[in-house]
Amino acid sequence: GGLTTLDPGYKNTGSCESAITFLDGEKGILRYRGYAIEDLAEKADFLEVAYLLIFGELPTPEQLEKFDTDIKAESHVDEDMKKILDGFPKSAHPMGVLSSMTSALIAFNPGSVNVDSEEEMYNAIVKLLAKFPVLAAWAMRKKKSQPLDYGSKSLGYVENLHKMMFSKANEDYSVQKEVIQALDKLLILHADHEQNCSTSTVRIVGSSHAGLFASISAGISALWGPLHGGANQAVIEMLEAIKEDGGDTKKYMAKAKDKNDPFRLMGFGHRVYKNFDPRAKIIKKSADEVLGQLGIEDPVLDIAKGLEKEALNDPYFVDRKLYPNVDFYSGIIYRALGIPVEMFTVMFALGRLPGWIAQWKEMRQRKEPIGRPRQVYIGENHREFKSLNKR
Ligand code: CMC
Repeated sequence: GGLTTLDPGYKNTGSCESAITFLDGEKGILRYRGYAIEDLAEKADFLEVAYLLIFGELPTPEQLEKFDTDIKAESHVDEDMKKILDGFPKSAHPMGVLSSMTSALIAFNPGSVNVDSEEEMYNAIVKLLAKFPVLAAWAMRKKKSQPLDYGSKSLGYVENLHKMMFSKANEDYSVQKEVIQALDKLLILHADHEQNCSTSTVRIVGSSHAGLFASISAGISALWGPLHGGANQAVIEMLEAIKEDGGDTKKYMAKAKDKNDPFRLMGFGHRVYKNFDPRAKIIKKSADEVLGQLGIEDPVLDIAKGLEKEALNDPYFVDRKLYPNVDFYSGIIYRALGIPVEMFTVMFALGRLPGWIAQWKEMRQRKEPIGRPRQVYIGENHREFKSLNKR
């Protein structure tokens, strides 16, 4: 029998049952394991949220301590991985470097592929959480031709990431606590978002029992695209272009509405949120706070606010329920923290890592079948073969 249901882009297809993230697109609700995103962003740190997503409960102090210690014990990245890093041209985009390096990690950690026991699964998860920030920081340093930093076991997860990205040779490392708080918050807001493009990719690759690292490497590639995580880089580039162009937001609004123009207002619209993106609300407020705390004035923030105001009052955007999404203001904060534009989507990947891991773990533990969608065939019927000299 033929296939009768067709759902391009899976707009209305549930691919799994999941107990991790709840999302109500009409009401603008996002919860991890039942906890409101607003509470987590305000009151938890990123490692606690990672634990919550992966293991289902907020950790006790002892559980968090053990988790942290286990991760620190695995933070070493094989010296030969550096040769792979060295092989990339300086112009390489850090997302490509990150996905390749994550895949390359498999060769140096072959034990991470087989995860039949709980212990094997835990070890693979801890290894990846430990090594991923190292690779992300290296990808940035490679671009800047800076010597690598191995981090410090005395720092928390996010501060250590920051050190590995920003420490300077011949200088003691220190950072304002507001910077780490802002980073923590951004990473938490990105930590999971149910069955989005990259998470579905992680699940479908993992469903063939390819290992965790291979599945995450595929997820990074999916996230890179400008319609998904790559939007955060695209937003800043768009805002910069508008600034260079004299700040004429009306012109870009018209372009975004013109169906003959491929331009879209980056950072606007969402497959599921049709009222507002709760993450965008928190990030907008945070952008104001962080810039204030660090004493930074960024004209691009004013352009962003102007665009938002115009869009929210424009029938095109109102009718289509297009609102600012998580990526609209995040780049302004990343920039204020000194993070280069090409690293924005890497920051998203660092935040999303616990979510990808949690979803992969759930998929394996529930013994989900291999992901294998069907199709509706629209090609030729049977045809007689013609040999080359008769064509
Ligand atoms: N600018 C102008 N028009 C838009 C935009 C936009 N940003 N987004 C959607 N539309 C229009 C679209 O042209 C279509 O119009 P019509 O009905 O006249 O054909 C209508 O709104 C519905 O859009 P769609 O593309 O069918 O919706 P979708 O659910 O397939 O796509 C989206 C969702 C996020 C890919 C899309 O809104 C978009 O491309 N946004 C810009 C990129 C972006 O900011 N992505 C980040 C998403 S948030 C988190 C993440 O994944 O990083």
